[in-house]
Amino acid sequence: MTTKTNPILPMLHDTQTMTRLREFEFGNEDFEALRKLVKQITGINLSDQKRELVYGRLARRLRALQLRSFAEYRELLAEDGGQEIVQFCNAITTNLTAFFREPHHFDYLRDQVLTPLLAAAPRRLRIWSAGCSTGEEPYSLAMTVLETVADVKRWDIRILATDLDSDVLERARCGIYAEDRLKNMTLQRRTRFFTERRERDNLCYEATPELKSLITFKQLNLMHPLPMRGPLDVIFCRNVVIYFDKDTQRELFSRVAHLQRPGDLLFLGHSESLFKVSESYTPIGKTIYKRG
Ligand SMILES: C[S@@+](CC[C@H](N)C(=O)[O-])C[C@H]1O[C@@H](n2cnc3c(N)ncnc32)[C@H](O)[C@@H]1O
Repeated sequence: MTTKTNPILPMLHDTQTMTRLREFEFGNEDFEALRKLVKQITGINLSDQKRELVYGRLARRLRALQLRSFAEYRELLAEDGGQEIVQFCNAITTNLTAFFREPHHFDYLRDQVLTPLLAAAPRRLRIWSAGCSTGEEPYSLAMTVLETVADVKRWDIRILATDLDSDVLERARCGIYAEDRLKNMTLQRRTRFFTERRERDNLCYEATPELKSLITFKQLNLMHPLPMRGPLDVIFCRNVVIYFDKDTQRELFSRVAHLQRPGDLLFLGHSESLFKVSESYTPIGKTIYKRG
């Protein structure tokens, strides 16, 4: 997701001047009210430094809705029965992701989870990609499963992929990616798991039905009750809670812990940690935790 920026604005520090130069008036009261709403709905904690980002992303909504001010936008959010809230959340979330991001997690899954299980009788395996964004993470999980488990049909393996943002989830479901999204993927993987197609003259790659068939995509706000029954053998919740404050993280992981049995695994993003957040898990590797 990109923000439209005006090259003159970063040089100006006087808020009054900035307000005059802006297309829409965006006062402190607007920022505080919107930041409170974001926290309440998504758990995302917007720092003061995110003021310009919030303006940039929501100004597009104001233009699309032909509104004249942020005050009008706030009124709409309060009064349209929750319709704009979806677009509001979609605009605020940060969806940066990549195939095989933090590759050591997928190596760990292959070597320490899937390979040892191959020696055992065929069994059930449940993986949850929480905050899956545009799908690169669950498709990478599915590729790891298919590369490691030769006779996948004899297994009961399911990957649940969820996100709050309805736009990214739709893109994840389609599983169609521009050429540059796959630029770091081996040719072997690309040919086995994707088919080439043209979208408006651009070369794209679509995940194969075999890859898609392992994944169920669902919209889920992590601030709401978690509807799955569990147990979940493996949870990838990476680069999601980085935007939550510690109390919100504590509350989330106490609910997540109920979905796992001792020995089940939780993977976090590279700058996330359960230190002072949860005592239900023990660190066993770089951002890899085992349920105690
Ligand atoms: C930076 S992306 C991470 C994607 C992927 N897990 C990865 O590491 O590449 C964070 C995702 O978390 C989602 N997210 C943020 N708050 C959420 C919430 N309260 N419930 C569910 N998803 C949320 C965002 O919509 C976004 O797609």
